[in-house]
Amino acid sequence: MKVKVLSAEELTTIGIGAPRKVYFPESVRELHSLLKGNLPVIGGGSNAVLSDSTTPLISTALFRNCTFNGDTVTFGAGIRLSQVLKLQQKMKFSLFEFLAGIPRATVGGLVAQNAGAFGEEVKDRLLSVTYFDPESGDILGMEKEEIERSFGYRKTPFPEKGIILNATFKIRYEPKIQRKIASFVYLRLSKQPPFYLKTAGSTFKNPEGESAGRLLDLVGLKGFSIGRIEFSNIHANFMVNRGKASFLEFKELIEEARKRVEREFNVRLELEIKIF
Ligand code: EPU
Repeated sequence: MKVKVLSAEELTTIGIGAPRKVYFPESVRELHSLLKGNLPVIGGGSNAVLSDSTTPLISTALFRNCTFNGDTVTFGAGIRLSQVLKLQQKMKFSLFEFLAGIPRATVGGLVAQNAGAFGEEVKDRLLSVTYFDPESGDILGMEKEEIERSFGYRKTPFPEKGIILNATFKIRYEPKIQRKIASFVYLRLSKQPPFYLKTAGSTFKNPEGESAGRLLDLVGLKGFSIGRIEFSNIHANFMVNRGKASFLEFKELIEEARKRVEREFNVRLELEIKIF
């Protein structure tokens, strides 16, 4: 099995934290052999921050199968969003255009987070998930009915329930897909920091009926920094690593934000970013 020690820049878009040992299983058997250690699974690292922990990680980046079947497609967890978008343009189908512009994300991570934007969520297109249950060692399936029941706003039973191997989605012919993707990229760039900056997407989940970005902005955190990390002056819910920010600086900025928002609005912000 491939094992590498990767830097925070190689593992996450925001590039904070210490280098980490990562296992890259290529088969379910290899995955099984790792799970006795109960190690966390990381996707593309676009909504993730590494702590200073030394616990090794598992990556499903090498699960890269792709099968079309009528109006459905099944992707392995390691397929990248950028590859899905390329296929969409080549074959003219609608699927993840609303996510266009999220750097490095993988199918496994997008499903596990039930990623969403501009009024749409991954769950809306998801038909079934195949996952590995570490307790029984079995490969299990989750069908639409259970997905509807257990997925919510940035919430799914994964990875607690198991490690996502494949996901099957409903697709639809869309002759204007190229233009649609371009307009979502444009829309994202009009509201959020540019892709070349080191960010990790939304820092906090939106509280019900509110926008975390708006609350952070109202308490004066837009453009506010601690050390080498700041809340973006374009959108206050995005953190930007301006140099070699440390995990400690990241934590301090999170705590400052929570403190101010709690004091002002009596709302406890919940992290959307996953810490590994
Ligand atoms: N706003 C401010 N100040 C700011 C940022 C936003 O006043 O600094 C205001 C905006 O003017 C707007 C409202 O807050 O009135 C909502 O802002 P926006 O439209 O940017 O949406 P959001 O709620 O901040 C959500 C998702 C994004 C997704 C966008 C677009 C969450 C936590 N964020 O942001 O998802 O791209 O909608 O649909 O759900 C992500 O999850 O990583 C992510 C980027």
